Amino acid sequence: MQDFLKQLPKAELHLHIEGTLEPELMMALAERNGVTLPYASVEEVRRAYDFADLSAFLELYFLGMSVLRHEADFEDLAMDYLRRAHAEGVVHVEMHVDPQAHLARGVPLETVLNGLERARERAARELDISTALILAFLRDKPVEEAMQLLEAVEPYRERFAAVGLDSAELGHPPGRFAEVFQCARQMGLACVAHAGEEGPPAYIREALEQLQVCRVDHGVRCLEDPGLVETLRERGIVLTVCPLSNVSLKVVERLAEHPLPRLLEAGLRLTLSSDDPAYFGGGMLDNFAACREAFGWGEATFRQLAANAIDEAFMTEARRSELQ
Ligand code: ADE
Ligand code: ZN
Repeated sequence: MQDFLKQLPKAELHLHIEGTLEPELMMALAERNGVTLPYASVEEVRRAYDFADLSAFLELYFLGMSVLRHEADFEDLAMDYLRRAHAEGVVHVEMHVDPQAHLARGVPLETVLNGLERARERAARELDISTALILAFLRDKPVEEAMQLLEAVEPYRERFAAVGLDSAELGHPPGRFAEVFQCARQMGLACVAHAGEEGPPAYIREALEQLQVCRVDHGVRCLEDPGLVETLRERGIVLTVCPLSNVSLKVVERLAEHPLPRLLEAGLRLTLSSDDPAYFGGGMLDNFAACREAFGWGEATFRQLAANAIDEAFMTEARRSELQ
């Protein structure tokens, strides 16, 4: 089964590139850039990864990314991850990036975007991995900041496939960003948003109605609202579910209690992703293998989940037919 899961061509639709920063690279970049971290060793970094919830994780996530300063750091970060993904049978990766978090530390937009662009070109050439970039807005920051970011990104418009919404969910409903997402649509960008990870089903509904998202990141709490489940199913909206992330952030206590089997039974379109693989205990293959272990799914289920991701990916039709 492990061989089957490894060779299955997998598309990763829900990934934060800053969440792929492994402790080894974090320490190496801290040294290279003279950044002081509150950790003495790689082991100490790993020991800190015991999160009570999303907010507790985000604190370490923003701290970890403070080692990223130069274009080469962003290139190394992404290449490091893409090589690991390639070894796990990943053929396409859609990366959320959080420019606001870097701008706030004085790292210019072009540094972030040019570093990632170099990695994307190399991944296509050296690994035959296609990639798409998702401009994520931090939902716990002012709406005006998101709008300014969208304007700043105009010269780089062609590098992006979509906009997304991430960071601390509770108390930050998606509807606030309706105008930003409307402008993004006018620029021809697709819309996705995190909703229903920690937040209530009402946030998923808001993301659908006010942000007009074509995919919901996480969305696992939709089951609390049968009417919403019906809407998601009717519209064929994909939920990008991240099993190991949900365990790490205590959305569920154990994977065996994860709503994934019930989401499938409800007839929803699902994909599996790793979210922040360096922080949550593994990449795509580990997430697939953990689901096999917890739910005993057979090959047909994994084939369907992997096919859903390729069907829903932001990629050219030529690339899609190559992968189908
Ligand atoms: N940013 C990085 N990982 C995230 C997650 N799991 N939820 C919300 N925002 C995030
Ligand atoms: Zn996420």
